[in-house]
Amino acid sequence: MEFCFLTACLVGAVALYVVFSWIIPRAVQNNAWWALLWHDRITERVRDHLTGSTRAERLLKAVQKNARRGDPQSVISAIDHYCRHSEWAMNVGDEKGSILDSVLSEVSPSCALELGTYCGYSTVRIARLLPPGATFVTVEFNPKYAKVARQVIEFAGLQDKVKLIEGASGDLIPKMKELFGNVTFDFVFLDHWKDRYVLDTKLLEDCGLLRKGSVLLADNVICPGTPEYLAYVRNNPRYKSTYYKSHLEYTKVEDGLEKSVFMG
Ligand SMILES: C[S@@+](CC[C@H](N)C(=O)[O-])C[C@H]1O[C@@H](n2cnc3c(N)ncnc32)[C@H](O)[C@@H]1O
Repeated sequence: MEFCFLTACLVGAVALYVVFSWIIPRAVQNNAWWALLWHDRITERVRDHLTGSTRAERLLKAVQKNARRGDPQSVISAIDHYCRHSEWAMNVGDEKGSILDSVLSEVSPSCALELGTYCGYSTVRIARLLPPGATFVTVEFNPKYAKVARQVIEFAGLQDKVKLIEGASGDLIPKMKELFGNVTFDFVFLDHWKDRYVLDTKLLEDCGLLRKGSVLLADNVICPGTPEYLAYVRNNPRYKSTYYKSHLEYTKVEDGLEKSVFMG
């Protein structure tokens, strides 16, 4: 009797594990709404509750365990491996990350800005490709994410290349010249909350932080989607815009990056 009960518990636990870790993730990976609901709402809360830690902290642990200190590529690979095989997270990811790498290498910016640091994945991706002496500012308003990002950037050995500032983009963009001298950004990566893309682009223009030829690269323009931003840069003679089709990080849902060159 006792043996039957234990066997039933074991079979139930294995079945739950298989459903939670394999069946549902595969079932939702082609649908934007279900994929985001499952990964970004349900599993994060369940794991936070079960482990008593946050997703950002688990991601940092994966880096500390699996990457090599001072090796940015190993930090990127450790995060991608963790997010593909254990737990989804909202990093730009490996597939869109390689588009980010190639646009960034084309621009080779001496002054770059990132809006939305999260755990520092794209920050490490960008910082490792910058020419020597470049200024790179990244902005994050969630202090818990900023704390993890600092540790990830430091683990990658890139702390001297990155200026992480904490606060809301809308407050910090107008202070950039005060904080970093008379800068203009050659490259801006927009990857914060989507309703800020148009507002912050206009703010960058108004504050004189863009020059003729500055490149804006915007993530998630399809999923979750930024229709107002796409309309703004595509129907505006001040921008020359190109869409790079890809997929939402670690899924098969369509997403993409929009590269927009500021014409002055
Ligand atoms: C999609 S995640 C960034 C992912 C990161 N770029 C990467 O690929 O590794 C968006 C981040 O932007 C931050 N964020 C959202 N709106 C912001 C704002 N207005 N100012 C500063 N940070 C913001 C969020 O807290 C979140 O960490």
